[in-house]
Parts: sequence; C-alpha cells; structure tokens
Amino acid sequence: MGDRLAVEVRDLVRRFGDFVAVDHLTFSIREGEIFGFLGPNGAGKSTTIRMLCGLLLPSDGAAQVAGLDATREAERLRRRIGYMPQLFSLYPDLTCHENLEFYAGLYGLPSAGRADRIAALSERLQIYPIRDQLTATLSTGWRQRVALACAIVHEPPILFLDEPTSGVDAATRQHFWDVIADLAADGTTVLVTTHSMEEAERCNRLVMIDRGRLIALDTPAALRAGLAGGLWQVDAEPLLPALAALSASDFTLDASLSGAQLRLRVTDGLADPPAAIAQVLRDAGTTVAHISPGAASLEDVFVALVGDHEQGEGT
Ligand SMILES: Nc1ncnc2c1ncn2[C@@H]1O[C@H](COP(=O)(O)OP(=O)(O)OP(=O)(O)O)[C@@H](O)[C@H]1O
Ligand SMILES: [Mg+2]
Repeated sequence: MGDRLAVEVRDLVRRFGDFVAVDHLTFSIREGEIFGFLGPNGAGKSTTIRMLCGLLLPSDGAAQVAGLDATREAERLRRRIGYMPQLFSLYPDLTCHENLEFYAGLYGLPSAGRADRIAALSERLQIYPIRDQLTATLSTGWRQRVALACAIVHEPPILFLDEPTSGVDAATRQHFWDVIADLAADGTTVLVTTHSMEEAERCNRLVMIDRGRLIALDTPAALRAGLAGGLWQVDAEPLLPALAALSASDFTLDASLSGAQLRLRVTDGLADPPAAIAQVLRDAGTTVAHISPGAASLEDVFVALVGDHEQGEGT
C-alpha cells in the first residue's frame, strides 16, 4: 500500500430537498488500499460513491479522486475509475462478451489489446462458458461476475464496488474477494460497500456511516479492540427469561441470543461482571451454567455504534 492518497473527501454533503443524505463526510483512501464502506440501509453509501464517480453533484464540500476534482473534472475522471453500481449496470439484450466489448470502448481501451484483455479477464472471473449468453438470462451471481469484469476491463487505478457480492453464493464471494485482493496487491485502490462483516474483515480500513454521518474509521482490528464495554457469553436455563432479565438490568448495553447462548455487552465501569450477571439471573429464578468472556466481532461493533449513535440522537 502506498502513502499517496487516491481519494480525498472533505466535508462532502448531499441534500435531496430538505433531507440530508450525506452529512459532512471527511475521509481519505491511500493508493492500493481496500477500503470498506459500511452502514445500515439508507446510510448514504451509494449516494457518496455516485458523487466520487462524478455522477452526482455534491451540495457542498469537495472530493479529489485520482488527483482530479470529482465535480469539475468528472469527464476525465471516468476513464480512471471503475464503477460497479449496486443496481444493474449491464445491457440485458447484449451477450456477456458484447457487454465487455461495450465497456472497453466506453472506457477508451485501445482496440489493439482489447481482445487479449477481455480473454484474460473472462478467464480470471470464470465467465468464459457464458460469454455468448444474453445477460438478461443470467442468474444474479453470474450477472455480478460479468458486471465486475466490465468495471475493471480498462484496468482502472481506482475501483468503486457498490455491494458487489449482494445475491452471490459463498464460493463466488470468496472468489470475488480473491480478485479484489489481487487487484489491491497490484496497486489498485478499492472502495467497496458490503453488509457482510466477514467481508469487512478483509478490508484494510473501514468507515462506518449512519444517516449520512461518519461514526467510525479504522482498521477492523482497531474497531474490534475499541468496542466500549465488556462482552460476555452466558449459558443459562431457561434461556428466554434469562435474556429478558439481563436485557432489563442497568449494566447491560446490549443483550442478544447467539445459538443456545446469551451474548451480553456490559458497561465499562462494572467491577465484577460475572458476579453481577449471576446475581441478576438468580434473582430472576434462572439457573446459571457458565459465564465466560466473549471476543468482539465486527458485527458487535456495528450494532453498538449504530445503536449508540441512535440513542445519542434521542430517537
Ligand atoms: N435521488 C434521490 N432523491 C431523493 N432521495 C434520495 C435519492 N437518492 C438517495 N436518496 C435517499 O438518500 C438516502 C441514502 O441513500 P443511499 O442509496 O445512498 O443509501 P445506502 O447507504 O446506499 O443504502 P443501502 O444499504 O440500502 O444500499 C436514502 O434515504 C435514500 O432514500
Ligand atoms: Mg446502497
């Protein structure tokens, strides 16, 4: 990963009427970085990406992408980036191969090396067998493969992938992420949105946004380490009354079922969490079998941050 910046976003804002979809976002992405973009539905991820690709005008703020101003130099920018939109980007009445040809032309790929490039890419994304099929007739996973191929056909230095693995099976997901890792290793900068915390773990850094605002930005490990409150796993019988009792206790920040266990996040100041948890369970007439420390997952971080943010807003 280089030290130079591929993307610099400063105080970016997008309003739709009175509604603020993107609310003063500031972050930067280093060259060769895999940068994950997380947030609940409607957080403003796709809207931000569209502004970074020069497809939507910001209401305020600025974005530099590949050294170009995403607003004023949008036309030049388009050849230096690849964009895989969340919704459909392929022409349904063209075959896979024709779509690739079309995008290669659109992105100005010289015709001399075009056939070789498309052949290599079809090999890498394993779409050779479906090259002559109309994209309208493809299943979601295959369509996503072709859409990814179209977004990188011109070997852009910066790639924007908006939920590339949505609707894609587990094996294809792994394959996509191997392709993303290879691209990044070759110096491509990748901004990728996902709702999968497993995928988020494969990013170098993550930004979490909620209702247009940045709520966290760090490496996956640092985000996990920084989760406020201690996590505990509890075996208790019967499970649902135990969950209800712990959810209602003062020291609980978050309680949920995880298989046949309870997962609990407790406030930082609690002196002896296992004793406090056991006391609540005994008072509720439930039997405690086991209480052990839990490890934070990105999902815990996400739920905690989005929840805290909402409570902070008084909603
Ligand atoms: N053209 C538009 N006009 C009005 N509102 C819009 C427009 N585009 C987006 N929005 C609103 O802006 C908010 C952010 O939408 P956006 O698509 O960026 O969210 P997202 O984070 O990508 O969500 P998802 O995870 O569901 O894809 C939503 O409330 C959406 O309804
Ligand atoms: Mg979106």
